[in-house]
Amino acid sequence: MVKLTDLLASTWLIPLASGASQSFLTSTTTSQPQFTIPASADVGAQLIANIDDPQAVNAQSACPGYKASNVQHSPRGFSASLQLAGKPCNVYGTDIDSLALSVEYQDSNRLNIQILPTYVDASNASWYLLSETLVPRPKASSNASVSQSDFLVSWSNEPSFNFKVVRKATGDVLFDTEGTVLVYEDQFIEFVTALPDEYNLYGLGEHITQLRLHRNSNLTIYASDDGTPLDSNIYGQHPFYLDTRYYKVDAQNGTHIPVKSSEADASQEYVSSSHGVFLRNAHGLEILLRPQKLIWRTLGGGIDLTFYSGPTQADVTRQYLTSTVGLPAMQQYSTLGFHQCRWGYNNWSELADVVANFEKFEIPLEYIWTDIDYMLGYRNFENDPNRFSYSEGEEFLNDLHDSGRYYVPIVDSALYIPNPENASDAYPTYDRGAADDVFLKNPDGSLYIGAVWPGYTVFPDWHHPKAVDYWTNELVIWSKKVAFDGVWYDMSEVSSFCVGSCGSGNLTLNPAHPPFLLPGEPGDIIYDYPEAFNITNATEAASASAGAASQAAATATTTSTSVSYLRTTPTPGVRNVEHPPYVINHDQEGHDLSVHAVSPNATHVDGVEDYDVHSTFGHQGLNATYQALLEVWSHQRRPFIIGRSTFAGSGKWAGHWGGDNYSKWWSMYYSISQALSFQLFGIPMFGADTCGFTGNSDEELCNRWMQLSAFFPFYRNHNELSTIPQEPYRWASVIEASKTAMRIRYAILPYFYTLLDLAHTTGSTVMRALAWEFPNDPTLASVETQFLLGPSIMVIPVLEPQADTVKGVFPGVGHGEVWYDWYTQTAVDAKPGVNTTIPAPLGHIPVYVRGGSVLPMQEPALTTRETRQTPWALLTALGSNGTASGQLYLDDGESVYPNATLHVNFTASQSSLRSSARGTWHERNPLANVTVLGVSKEPSAVTLNGQRVSPGSIGYNSTSQVLFVGGLQNLTAGGAWAKNWVLEW
Ligand code: NOJ
Repeated sequence: MVKLTDLLASTWLIPLASGASQSFLTSTTTSQPQFTIPASADVGAQLIANIDDPQAVNAQSACPGYKASNVQHSPRGFSASLQLAGKPCNVYGTDIDSLALSVEYQDSNRLNIQILPTYVDASNASWYLLSETLVPRPKASSNASVSQSDFLVSWSNEPSFNFKVVRKATGDVLFDTEGTVLVYEDQFIEFVTALPDEYNLYGLGEHITQLRLHRNSNLTIYASDDGTPLDSNIYGQHPFYLDTRYYKVDAQNGTHIPVKSSEADASQEYVSSSHGVFLRNAHGLEILLRPQKLIWRTLGGGIDLTFYSGPTQADVTRQYLTSTVGLPAMQQYSTLGFHQCRWGYNNWSELADVVANFEKFEIPLEYIWTDIDYMLGYRNFENDPNRFSYSEGEEFLNDLHDSGRYYVPIVDSALYIPNPENASDAYPTYDRGAADDVFLKNPDGSLYIGAVWPGYTVFPDWHHPKAVDYWTNELVIWSKKVAFDGVWYDMSEVSSFCVGSCGSGNLTLNPAHPPFLLPGEPGDIIYDYPEAFNITNATEAASASAGAASQAAATATTTSTSVSYLRTTPTPGVRNVEHPPYVINHDQEGHDLSVHAVSPNATHVDGVEDYDVHSTFGHQGLNATYQALLEVWSHQRRPFIIGRSTFAGSGKWAGHWGGDNYSKWWSMYYSISQALSFQLFGIPMFGADTCGFTGNSDEELCNRWMQLSAFFPFYRNHNELSTIPQEPYRWASVIEASKTAMRIRYAILPYFYTLLDLAHTTGSTVMRALAWEFPNDPTLASVETQFLLGPSIMVIPVLEPQADTVKGVFPGVGHGEVWYDWYTQTAVDAKPGVNTTIPAPLGHIPVYVRGGSVLPMQEPALTTRETRQTPWALLTALGSNGTASGQLYLDDGESVYPNATLHVNFTASQSSLRSSARGTWHERNPLANVTVLGVSKEPSAVTLNGQRVSPGSIGYNSTSQVLFVGGLQNLTAGGAWAKNWVLEW
C-alpha cells in the first residue's frame, strides 16, 4: 500500500487531494478563482526498480554475449565485428545481433572504445548515436598511434568477447570485462568491469553523496527535478569517473604493490596513479558499484568510452576537459562577490530594502537576485507591472549599478501557453515561438503541453534550427526593459508537473495552479528547522512541531489504494519509451520516467524522442542562454549563467548551483562533495543554496554555512518561498561571522580570479580535494570534510551543530609541508595523519595557508569594484625549504576577449621575493605591503629593487616568525606590477 502523500512527503511538493477543486488566487488573477491541475495528473505507473525487483532477470546469466571476428588493425588501433554468440536473450529489449567495435588510440593519454550496432539508419540513428553537434566526440590527434599510447587494449573471445585496458607503464589493468558478458539491446546495454579491492572512485553525477563513491551503491543518472535526496538521481548527467590507485614501490625491484587506503599510514611513502573514464551516453543510466566491480547499464544509446591516462587527477581532469567536454567558461570578476537571493522577494522596494540592509550592516553584497515572483503569472520575459514594473525597475537598477552591484533574474525552461478563450491573455513570447514552430511536439505532431508554474506550458525544442535565435530574441527584447546582469536558468531537467501532454485540450483552464501546494499556502506552512533547533530554540521548536503535527493531521489523506505494479515485457522489434522494460531506480514516484518531467515520447523537430536525449535539455538551454547573452551584451561581456540541469560539457557556458537543498546540517555537509565532484565535471563555478533552501534555517546553521560557502566559487544565499528570512543580517552572530569570512574571500579575490582563469585556460580545478593535491597519501582518499581552494588555501569547516572544535588533518606534514593559520599567521604544529582538534567557536572558520605559496591580495571592501581600487598586498608563506611561488592573472574582469591581460609570477627564495609581469593590462594600484610567514631571523634591512624600505615600516615578530614590510606604496606608485621588482630582506 503506497500513499501518494507518503511518497511525496520527502520533498516540498505537497500534492492536492486527487480531484481537489481547491481554488487559489495568484497575483495575476485578481477576480477569478484559479483552476488547479489535479494531483493525479502527475501520477504515473508504479514500477519496481530493477535493482529491487525479486523477479528481475540477471542479464549476465541469461544473455549469450558476442564473438569478435574480422579484426582489422590500423596504426591507430583496430576494429572488429561482434556477432551475438547464441540465442537472443531479449531481456530488456531486442538484442542487436551484429555490432561494430572500434578501438582508437586517440592520443598518448587518451583511448576511445566504441561499440555500435552495425546497421543504423535514419529511422533509428538516435536510438544509438548521440549527435556530435549536441555532444562532440573527442578526436584523435594527428600523431596518435598504438605505440605512443599510455594504454594497451587486449581482447579475447573466451568464453565470449571481452576486453582489457592496461596501463603500459605499470601493467595495471584499468578496465577488464573478462568473465562477464556484453549485453547489447535496443533499450538496454550492460557491461561490467573488474575493479581492484577497495577501489577509489569519484564522479558519476549528479548525486548528493559521499566524495569517494561508496563501493556498494546504485548510482542512477537521469536528469530529474526532485529536491536533493541522498544517493538518488537529480538534476545533471555526468557519466565520468576518476579512479585513483595507490601503491607502495618495492625498494628492491621498483614494482608497484597495491595499497588499500584503509591500511595506509600518512608517514609512509606511497605513489598513486589516476585515470578517468567517460561514457558518452545521454540515456537513462545506472552504474552499480559492487565490491571489485562496476556494472554499467544504459537504457539505450551506444558504448562510447573514453579513457584518460592521467596519471594524476589534475592530468585526468585537464585531459577530459581539453579533449572532450570543453574548458569552463571564464566568469566576470564581479561574480566572485556575494549573491543574495530568495524565492519570495515580492517587489522592487523589497529588493531595495535588502540592498539597504546589506549596506547598513556593512556586509558585502554584489548581486541581488529575483525568483519567479517578479514574473507576470510566472511567464518568462514578462514582469508583473504592479510589483516589478519596468519603470521602477529602471530606477532601482540604475542605483544598483551605480553602487557597483548587479541583478540576476530567474528564467524558467517552460513557457506559458495562453488561454484561447481569453482575448486579454496575450503572451507575445508564445506567439513568436508558435509562429516559428519551435516548441516540442507529441508523436502525432501536435504541441506537447505540460505544466509548470504558470499552468499549462510549452517547451522550446532545442533541436529546432530556429530555437536559439528565438530564445536570443526573447532575451534581447526583455533586456531592453530590464537591465539584468546574468541569467539563472531553472527547471531544465526538463521539469513538467504532470505526466504527458496534460494540457492538450485543457488550455481554456489556463492560467492554472500547479498540482501541489506552493510553500506557504494553507496546508503547506513550513515548520521544519535544522537538526539542533530543539536545543538552541526549545520553545520555538516545540511550537513548530505542534504546528507541523496539526497541519499533518488536517491534511492527511485517508484513502490509500493498493498498488498494482507494472512490468513491461519486451516485444522484439518494438521500443517502449514510456515504460522501458529495464526500470532504472529513477527517483520520481513509481520510478516512472514520465512523472514530473516532459515525457519520453515528446518529440523534437528532427524526430528524436526525449527518451534518447532527455538529460541534454538543460545543457542545450544553457547553450541557448549563453548565445543569447552574448547577443544581449554585443559580445562585450562574459555571459553569467547559473543552471540547474547540466550535462557533460555544460561548464563551457555556465556554473551550477546545488539546487533545492535543505536547511539541514547534512545538506551543508554534502555541499562539499558536490562542489568537488563538479570540479571533476568541468563546472568549477559551483555553490550551494547557502543557509539551506527547503525548510527554515536558523542562526547556528546559517552562521556556519555563510562561512563555509565563502570559500566556494559561487557564493549565494537562497531560500524557499514562505520560510523565515535568512539574509546574513538577520542574526547578530551571522553578521559578524559572514563579515569575517567575507573579509578573507574579498582579500583573496585576485587569487580566486586567477584560479578561475587557470581553470578556463588549462582545465585545472578551483576547489580541490585533499587527495588531489596530495596524491601520494592514501589516507586522504576519502576526506570530504575539509578541502583546498586552489593549491594554497585549506578550509576545515565545522559541519555539525553545537560544536566548538573541529577535527582536521594537515596533509604532507610528515614530508616537509608547512601550514600557517590564516588568523595567527603562525605555523601549525601537527603530526602526520593525526586528526587534530582545532578550536572553532561559532563564528570562526579554520583556514590555513600552505607553505610555499604567494597569495596576491587586495583590501576587502563591500563590492568587488571597490576592492579592485585598493592597494595590493602579498602574503608569502615560506615552505620548509624557504621558498614560495604564486601567480596572478588580471584583465578588465568582464570582456569576452579582453584586449589587455597581465600575468604576474611571484617567486620567493630564502630572503627575497621577486615579481615579474608580462602583458599589457595596466594595474594602477600600488603595492602596499608584503607579509612573509616563516622568517626565522630578523632581517637587518629590507630593500625593494635596491632601495631601502624605511625601518619604521618594517615589523618582525620572532615568536610567530612573521615579517611585515609596509610602506611600499611610494616605491610602487606607478602600479604594483608595472615594473619587475625584487624585495630582499
Ligand atoms: C526550483 C529551484 O530549484 C529553486 O531554487 C527556485 O526557488 C524554485 N524553483 C522557484 O523558482
